[in-house]
Formats: sequence, structure tokens, C-alpha cells
Amino acid sequence: MRNKLIAGNWKMHGSRVANEAWVRALQAEPILESVELAVLVPAPYLAQMQQLLGGSTCVWGGQDVSDQERGAFTGEVAASMLREFGCRYTVVGHSERRQRHGETDVQVAAKAQQALAQDLIPILCLGESLEQREAGKTAQVMRHQLGVLLDILGEGGMARSVLAYEPLWAIGTGRSATPAQVQEVHAWLRQQCAETSPGLAENIQILYGGSVKSSNAVELMTLPDVDGALVGGASLVAQEFLAIARAAAKASQRTE
Ligand code: 13P
Repeated sequence: MRNKLIAGNWKMHGSRVANEAWVRALQAEPILESVELAVLVPAPYLAQMQQLLGGSTCVWGGQDVSDQERGAFTGEVAASMLREFGCRYTVVGHSERRQRHGETDVQVAAKAQQALAQDLIPILCLGESLEQREAGKTAQVMRHQLGVLLDILGEGGMARSVLAYEPLWAIGTGRSATPAQVQEVHAWLRQQCAETSPGLAENIQILYGGSVKSSNAVELMTLPDVDGALVGGASLVAQEFLAIARAAAKASQRTE
């Protein structure tokens, strides 16, 4: 049985005051036993999260990590630094970084390796653009993205990672992929993992990301190959984030 993970990716949002209010709102709610909660914050807020969330059931993490261990890499954050601030997860290969910073599949895998070396769980983002989907290239694009990860991280590294399917056209657009589209891609990704190892396919968590909100969460979280969500905009509002988490908890109870 795979547990569900609801991870909030705040992207470049937050302030010390707003973050504290968010955490207080979260802590005022009953604990959800069957769902893991994580919040992925801008690096300057990691110390605040460590202080506010330490000992709570919501874990925290970064949104990116360097592909280098240490050195003259201005502006980058090493996996050991994320570790020092108590992170459990880090996002790797988000499409916003692939697009804006030209990150390649090989670089994404190298970042994941750095994360794994520090016992962080990389959340490996994959997804196709609208143009690629409309040209019927979704499988081809993802075969390549996933193939590089499988080759470089191997079964062992992948088994300690989480996958996140985030179609670019659904990110921040308010237009989520349909449940049928999500299930089709997630099942396909699991099938691809099965070619490497049936055990890996059975156990790897595959999150969906792209305009997840409380109004579509129940439908998405009930899909058999969806093991949680990577939530952008809706995660900034604690009550929305919690409503998504409750939807995931309800979906897990149904499938138990
Ligand atoms: P939205 O939920 O705002 O569409 O963002 C999704 C995302 O990119 C999460 O990493």
C-alpha cells in the first residue's frame, strides 16, 4: 500500500509573517494519520520552517538543489545545507527551472544524486508541454525524461525518490488535466518503471501537479495510480491545502 503525500510548493511566495500564520492554521487542525504533508519553501525560510514545524507531522523541504556538492557556485544551495535545516524533501527538475534556467535531464538527475547522497527524498518532476501533447508526443517526451533518471539513478536511487507528473499546460493555469489524462500517464509511468523493476513500480509514489485545488482533489486523489499531489497556488492558503489533504485522506480510506 503506497501512502499519499500532499506537498505544497510555495514557489517564490511567502513572508515571515504569512508563513507563521500558515503554520499556525495548519497546527490548529486535527492530524491526518493516513496522509503525509510537506511544504517546499524558498531557501531563506527553511530555518523558520525548522523552528515552526520541528516535531510536527508536516515536514518541509527545498524547491531545488545544486548538482554540485560544494564550491564556487554563486546562488546555489547544496543538498548538505538543505539537510542541515532539517529538510526531508527537495523538488528537482521543476518545469519552471527547466524552462527558465535551461536545466537538462542529465543535470536534473545529477541534482537528484546530490539529494540522495544527503538522504533527502528528491521529488522528480516530469511533464510535457501543450505543444508536445497536441503533437502526440507525451509518451516520447516522458520516456526520455524518465529514461535518463532511471539510467543515472538506477533502481536503488529511484526507489528512494518520488515522481511528480506535472503537465506544463496545467501549471498555474487553473486548468487541471482530466482524471482520465492523469490516470493514463501515471499508469504509463508505473509501467515504464516496471520494466526496470516490478517492485519499484509497485512502491514508487507518483504525485500529480497542475491546478490541484480542493474542488478537484477528491476526483484526482481517488485515481488508482495517483499517490498524492504537488500543489502550487492552492497550497499558499492553509485551509485550501488542508482541504486537499483531507480529500487525499478520504481517498486512502476508500482504497484500504
Ligand atoms: P499550480 O498548482 O499552481 O498549478 O502549480 C503546480 C506546480 O507547479 C507545483 O509544483
